Amino acid sequence: IRVDWDAVTAEKGGFDHFMLKEIHEQPKAYRDTMLGRIDESGRKVVLPGLKLSDEKIRSLTSVHVIACGTAYNAGLVGGTAIEQLVRIPVMNDVASEYRYRSPLITPETLVIVVSQSGETADTLAALREAQANGAHVLAITNVVGSSIARDADDVIATLAGPEIAVASTKAYTSQLIAFYLLGLYMAQVRGTQSADDVAHVIAAMHSLPEQVESMLAQADTVKAYAEQIASHEHLFFIGRGLDYSVVQEGSLKLKEISYIHSEAYAAGELKHGTLALIEEGVPVIALATQETVLEKTVSNIKEVKARGADVMAITHEENVPDLLKSVDQALAIPKTLPLLTPALSVVPLQLLAYYAALARGNDVDKPRNLAKSVTVE
Ligand code: G6P
Repeated sequence: IRVDWDAVTAEKGGFDHFMLKEIHEQPKAYRDTMLGRIDESGRKVVLPGLKLSDEKIRSLTSVHVIACGTAYNAGLVGGTAIEQLVRIPVMNDVASEYRYRSPLITPETLVIVVSQSGETADTLAALREAQANGAHVLAITNVVGSSIARDADDVIATLAGPEIAVASTKAYTSQLIAFYLLGLYMAQVRGTQSADDVAHVIAAMHSLPEQVESMLAQADTVKAYAEQIASHEHLFFIGRGLDYSVVQEGSLKLKEISYIHSEAYAAGELKHGTLALIEEGVPVIALATQETVLEKTVSNIKEVKARGADVMAITHEENVPDLLKSVDQALAIPKTLPLLTPALSVVPLQLLAYYAALARGNDVDKPRNLAKSVTVE
């Protein structure tokens, strides 16, 4: 028998691209990132080795979340998680802006830097700026021996394993898991969530890997939609609250590898300008998972529909029949707590970018003009 084999094919583990392999590795990455960070009772987060003392956590007055690219987008979700769980003001910024604007950093500021590679020059410089101003810097990174991990005062490692594709997928979702754990931990210390509430979130987190698996098994629906949008040059993503944070990542992913121009918009903000760009046949992807703003999102969907947009809604099964009255297509995702939904809702958006890039014949793993790690400022 002749077996065609080469090292790269073997590394891809049977997948056509590293990106697809890494998308499929997410359930494992979720489990690995949680491993050893939940106590035996299953009701409490423990972060072994964390230097941030309880006293320091109690004294904090603000949190800054700083990163670049996909890590910045993960920080948007993470910042909301911390704000909701800990009830402390959180500010997000991209590293290349933060470091040049004399940010208000005090010793009572916790600065969280997020970086898959741990080598991004702007993020590293922001870390140094924060330390020079007396802040405690905690790094969420996938590479424990990296410059950022070495220089930070604390590290929460994401255990996603090596990420090869330039477009980040499993690193992003593992960063979300790290943020949920950190938020729950800080909430335990500051007493902002009851023990039962913490246990409830942890239980829901344990179901995420299986829920991702069920979505991956239905990738064909996303593939068919991706082939439909692949011939377009412009499209829009809309959402509110955490859905808005997630569509920012969906839009970045699509731009990075399919080269389709897309914008992620806060659904309620469309009418203040961007609505002018909506015309007959423009694809709009509406992420509508956050129950508290669902009705408002539906009104925004109607606004774009009335201008001729072709709308795909991503929502929970129970909302599909109602939403189908206002949209052209709908995709259902499994249900979890609203706060954890980004860890699920981003998956179809990753697949969408992947299949759209594939349909356009692009080099999925090595998109033009981009590098996996940017070590220049
Ligand atoms: C580059 C990559 C992005 C990544 C960003 C931040 O631009 O192409 O995918 O999100 O750097 O990288 P980091 O390693 O700091 O997460």
